[in-house]
Amino acid sequence: MKTSNSKVRLDKLLGSLGYCARREVAALIKDGIVTHTENLPLKPDTKVLHEEIRFKGEPLDPPSGMVILMYKPAGLVCSHDEGEGRLVYDLLPPRWRMRDPKISTIGRLDKDTSGLLLLTDDGALLHRLTSPKHKVPKVYEATLDRPLNGDEAAIFASGTLMLHGEKTPCLPSKLTILDDTHVALEITEGRYHQVRRMFAAVGNHVTALHRSHFGDLRLGDLKEGEYQILTQEEIPNESPMRLQPIRNQHL
Ligand code: URA
Repeated sequence: MKTSNSKVRLDKLLGSLGYCARREVAALIKDGIVTHTENLPLKPDTKVLHEEIRFKGEPLDPPSGMVILMYKPAGLVCSHDEGEGRLVYDLLPPRWRMRDPKISTIGRLDKDTSGLLLLTDDGALLHRLTSPKHKVPKVYEATLDRPLNGDEAAIFASGTLMLHGEKTPCLPSKLTILDDTHVALEITEGRYHQVRRMFAAVGNHVTALHRSHFGDLRLGDLKEGEYQILTQEEIPNESPMRLQPIRNQHL
């Protein structure tokens, strides 16, 4: 549901943003918690615009269609399953768990990987940015257990590297050597544990992994555990490569 520019029932709007159950809206209006910017009378079935409503005097959370850029710390899991430990969703306001449509990560980072993670409730965008067809470049900085052999960049660029258990080789990728045990690797696929498995395939072992870029996006000034929201207007429709973070917005 796009809630920004079309009128929707107040109870549906608040329910979809996770503020409350729809049946609770009447009481919230009565208690003055939910109000109209022009002080117009409200009922649960009043058709309203997202921007007309205040919750405890504050504008509502962003409507559906949002994209969140997060600096994922290592140790958090990209899953909705509470049983898996601390989740990346724990860094967001608790009521966002109740949003419909649901917020999901755009692809995943391993528990032990830190860095740039995108989340959205826009299913079409999620599909576009994770589809192998779109080949969004992602850059990972890796720390290696052993010094490089010297032939890794050529092997990764060749498009012939086979990962254990897979039937097709990895697409060519670009390795930048920072020093003997530190590299930046740009890949355009998103296979399971891809970077770790690529280094395993050339006899090395990744001891730390950090994603620094997703398309043209960077973490900018964000600190570990922080996030910012890209507004609807700031998200290009066509090329994910042009996604640009605009400003920090901590809710
Ligand atoms: N490759 C990996 O091995 N892990 C990640 O989290 C991302 C890419």
